[in-house]
Formats: sequence, C-alpha cells, structure tokens
Amino acid sequence: MTASEPVLDPSSGRTGAATAEPIAVRRLRLDYDSDPLPKYFMEDELMSHVVAVLSALFPEGEDFFVRSVRRYRDRITDPVLKKQVAGFIGQEANHGREHRNFNARLQALGYPTARVDRLVRRGLAVNEKTRSPEVCLAVTAALEHYTATLAEVLLTDPEARAKFTSPEVRDLLVWHALEESEHKAVAFDVYQQVVGDQTLRARVMREITFWFLFDSITQTTLSILADRDARRPTVLWANLKKLRTSPWLSKAVRQRIADYNRPDFHPDDFDNAELTALWRDRLFGSEGSLAGKVRAPRARDDVKAAAAA
Ligand SMILES: [Fe+2]
Ligand SMILES: [Fe+2]
Repeated sequence: MTASEPVLDPSSGRTGAATAEPIAVRRLRLDYDSDPLPKYFMEDELMSHVVAVLSALFPEGEDFFVRSVRRYRDRITDPVLKKQVAGFIGQEANHGREHRNFNARLQALGYPTARVDRLVRRGLAVNEKTRSPEVCLAVTAALEHYTATLAEVLLTDPEARAKFTSPEVRDLLVWHALEESEHKAVAFDVYQQVVGDQTLRARVMREITFWFLFDSITQTTLSILADRDARRPTVLWANLKKLRTSPWLSKAVRQRIADYNRPDFHPDDFDNAELTALWRDRLFGSEGSLAGKVRAPRARDDVKAAAAA
C-alpha cells in the first residue's frame, strides 16, 4: 500500500465530513472497443466468476435502492440530504447503465448474467410486494453498507486492484467504488430521518447478510459449474485456496460489516473524505485516468435530478 492511501480501519474516527459533501453525478463513456474483453478479466477463473455475478446483481439491485429511497423523498426536510438523494439517484442510474453494458459483454463470453439479472428482478419484485417500504429502505441501507465496505477495500488496497487484469474492468469498478463511497451515507441518513428504528435496521442487516451470501455463493457456484475450464478440480482448488488471503474477506472487512449493528453506528464512522478526494483526483483531476471519458450532462439529466430531489 502506498503512503498516500488512507488505510481501511474500522476504528477510525467519525467526522461527518462526507455528509455535507455534494455528490457529483458523472456520466461516463466507458467504451470497450480497444480489445475484446478476455474471458478471465480477474487474476483467476474463480474471481472472474465472482465479479461477473456481482456485476449481474447491480442493475436491478440499484434500481431497487433508488425506488426504496425515492418513495420517501417528500418526507425529507433537510435540504442538504435532499440534494444528496438527487446525487445518489443520479449516480446509481449511471452505475446501472454501465453495468448493463458490461453484463451484455459478459453474457457473450458465457457468464450467466442475464439469468442472474432475471432472478434478482423477480426476487426484488416479491420483496416489494410482501415487505413494507420501511423494510425495503432498511434493506437498501444494509446493502449500501456492503457495497461501500467492499468499495473502500478496492480504493484503499493496491493488492485488491492488482487482482483486475483487465484495465477496462478495473476502471469500471474503481469508478463505481468511488461513487459508492461518496454516497454511502445517503440511504442510511434517509432511513434514520424517516424510520429511525434501530432494532429493525439490525434485524434486516442479519437477514440481508444471509441472503446476500447465499445468493452470491449459489450463483457463483452455478456459473463455475457451467464453465469447463473454471470447474476443473485442480484449477478450482488452487483458486479457492487464494480466498484465504483475499482482501475482501479479511478480519477488518468482517468487523466493518458487523459494526453496522451497533445502535450508534453511522457510515461516516469510517471517514472517507481523504480517500474520496484522492480518487476524485486520480480519476477525474486534470491528469485523471477517466477525465476524458466523462460525457457532458444532458439537459434531461438535470431535469430528472431536480425531479428526484
Ligand atoms: Fe452503485
Ligand atoms: Fe450505492
């Protein structure tokens, strides 16, 4: 890890600085036309299947997050939070679009992203029919804690980024990670302001942990079983052994996830101001690696963001 990168430390102090930070909506043009995407775009077959499954979960999952938060926008009285909700909605809409493009490419390579997308859509539709809006919002806040925690591993740990062997895929995930970190407190703050039930919040987190792990492991297993190269016992065993040292499965990460169930938890307990400033500069500063890929905002995006607020 370089000295300039903040460390993922679950005990780092809360400043609340991120709460007042405006959330920028950036439309990117991530074209993949330079070279064909390699089948295995991560360091090994297993990680490629894991990332493909996670990517397949995102578009429908993030649409659900947006609906869950948007349902409450009229009850948000804090003008700063209202603006942040608009930024959150804009960022998630862009993530969904870019991951849909990426998922279509993964499907063409043989990953079952379309099937996973269908299953997520059906599962979330059942959830929205049978659970209250408060529970849907609690589900969103819990899953946003997962995405922000995993995102901040990617942003803080060069070893995690080194696992991406395709620069295009790394760009997509690092951009997504930055924005997940930037808006990590929005759904949580909306939940606190309009629901505020800490027992429900912790109960939903326990449920979500079970379903998130169950669905991710099941879909990854099915994806690997359908891939002759990835399912070879010697390959699979060697890849599974590497998980013991995976930066995403470390003790610090497990602590960060579990920390959510503290009654006085807040996402800004891990102060990300320095981390997000560093990555905004690396990606979108004058020398930023993605600076040339930001599209001008369309007029109707501004109208949509205003309507969302
Ligand atoms: Fe996202
Ligand atoms: Fe998010």
